Amino acid sequence: MDHINYALSTGQGRETWLECVRFVHQALPGIDVADVSLKPKTGDLKLQSPVFINAMTGGGGQDTLQLNALLAKAAKETGIAMAVGSQMAALKDKTERDSYAIVRQENPDGIVFGNLGSEASVSQAIEAVEMIGADALQIHLNVVQELTMPEGDREFRGALDRIAQIAESIHVPVVVKETGFGISHETAEALNQTRVAAIDASGFGGTNFASIENERRQRKLAYFEDWGIPTAAAIVECREGFGRTVLASGGLQDAGDLVRAFRLGADAAGIAGSFLKRAVNLGEIGLIEEINALHEDLTMLMTALGARTIEEIRTSPVVISGELLSHLQQRGYG
Ligand code: FNR
Repeated sequence: MDHINYALSTGQGRETWLECVRFVHQALPGIDVADVSLKPKTGDLKLQSPVFINAMTGGGGQDTLQLNALLAKAAKETGIAMAVGSQMAALKDKTERDSYAIVRQENPDGIVFGNLGSEASVSQAIEAVEMIGADALQIHLNVVQELTMPEGDREFRGALDRIAQIAESIHVPVVVKETGFGISHETAEALNQTRVAAIDASGFGGTNFASIENERRQRKLAYFEDWGIPTAAAIVECREGFGRTVLASGGLQDAGDLVRAFRLGADAAGIAGSFLKRAVNLGEIGLIEEINALHEDLTMLMTALGARTIEEIRTSPVVISGELLSHLQQRGYG
């Protein structure tokens, strides 16, 4: 609950650098609204919508159970996938399982992702998948969050090997994600050597776990609050280093953000903080309206771009400026 409350009160930054991407308007797009399909190409993940609810909650009693039930109902109603929050608490304490199980109960046929940290073993990964009948397993990388937490992990060796073993051993696809500090080209390349099915760039500019964890400690590690790869740059870094599905997340709030993320190379996109705010302030109906509006707005934007599919957005002409341009040039991406 601390994470939820501080995520709501610390607010979302607007430093994703997605605003550095400007589409060049095409007055002759050559397609109809009816030509647009939102179904993305995400390989084994088999997503039906290019938007999903990213990992947030689980464990922690009635409040998180109700929030997860709400998110699951909205996911079912709108046909989008949903990730649960880290299941490690429920692996250690079976009484914590209800708030995860509710997600599958509310949405028996939907696409649900499990979630664990990179400290997890193969047997824990198998148990997490079984717990909720997960269609895929997210493994989160959150070094900066752990370092900022007084009680956080201090040992990060061996994470890549554990991830590689899990990806080889479990029968559902593995998605490796950050938690708002971004995945670099180098990290993406290392993950590309494993059998991980997808990576989620989860860049800087949205929910900021350094700010959240600093709220919970006396001596603040302020230097981590401005740390990380802004989402726009992280997506490109991931696309350059990883040959399979690339997901975007980190500060995505509206369809304008989503089309820019798809233009930079993402195949689909996760939203956490912005959906959380909507769910807490406006409830299930408000969240369903938000997701339906996102789908409609994406269709409008794709028509204007002349893109029939999410993939076709990738060739839409754009002009890139500012800090994103400088980042791409210095990293040798032309
Ligand atoms: C998260 N996030 C997260 N990620 C994860 O892999 N496991 C987790 O348990 C959690 N927990 C969590 C709680 C809360 C309250 C929030 C807001 C977020 C991180 C999330 O999935 C995402 O990567 C980041 O929040 C960046 O996306 P947004 O929030 O800027 O859209």
